[in-house]
Amino acid sequence: MLKRKLLVIGIGAGNPDHVTIEAVEAMNRASVFFIPDKGDEKTELASLRRTILERFMRHDSYRIVPFSVPKRNRSDAYERDVDEWHAAIEEMHETLIAHELGEDETGAFLVWGDPMLYDSTLRIIDRIAAGGKIALDYAVIPGITSLQVLAARHRIVLNAIGRPVTITTGRRLAEDLPGSAGSVAVMLDGQNAYGDVDEDMDIWWGAYLGMPDEILVSGRLADVADEIREKRESARRDKGWIMDSYILKRRERDDPG
Ligand SMILES: C[S@@+](CC[C@H](N)C(=O)[O-])C[C@H]1O[C@@H](n2cnc3c(N)ncnc32)[C@H](O)[C@@H]1O
Repeated sequence: MLKRKLLVIGIGAGNPDHVTIEAVEAMNRASVFFIPDKGDEKTELASLRRTILERFMRHDSYRIVPFSVPKRNRSDAYERDVDEWHAAIEEMHETLIAHELGEDETGAFLVWGDPMLYDSTLRIIDRIAAGGKIALDYAVIPGITSLQVLAARHRIVLNAIGRPVTITTGRRLAEDLPGSAGSVAVMLDGQNAYGDVDEDMDIWWGAYLGMPDEILVSGRLADVADEIREKRESARRDKGWIMDSYILKRRERDDPG
């Protein structure tokens, strides 16, 4: 059986200048691009993928296949909601690939940031490949993650010297601040979870990183938490959506400042 070829390409977190040369070469091997179209905020994000294609494709013999991402149920059973959501996405991807990608063609998913960080594309493709209904051969091309841009903009090293790093979500941070970690990078925080952290920490926060509307705030958490909340809320009101992340580090005990 012929295997359909798929490329999962990290495209950076919003700045087309962050697309790597390897990603450009991979895109140019593809002839079908599957592009999500998720509504409001996401129309802008989907258009960024199109901008990237217009800028980097050296041939025009490719087509774009837009798809709508199923909505996640938001009940109290988070894990079950995510499972059901992934199953629905998997079914949709399988149908898309079967119907839209010829056996001799190469398809591509342009994944925000890097596919290894809080993105389900790889898990879904892995499940489709393991399911055996479609024979797939796929490769992953890394991208620059939002966390790299965040650290670069603030000119900081993610880890404290010799210390570990925890990457987590706002939801998990609210449940439990990782104890032994030297630093904590937080993504997907829809609830201002940093506001409930009562330890003495520094924060480096960034929204729309790499994009024209980029906003940065840093300082002692207790001093800047309100400023971050205000900037976050007013930006979300103005644009209708926000993407932000932050890094927290415990302050040294003997730090006088
Ligand atoms: C579903 S995750 C995807 C992460 C992505 N794979 C990456 O490598 O950055 C989405 C979260 O990433 C963070 N994020 C992505 N792009 C961002 C950006 N341009 N500025 C700030 N945060 C961003 C936000 O925390 C957002 O909630």
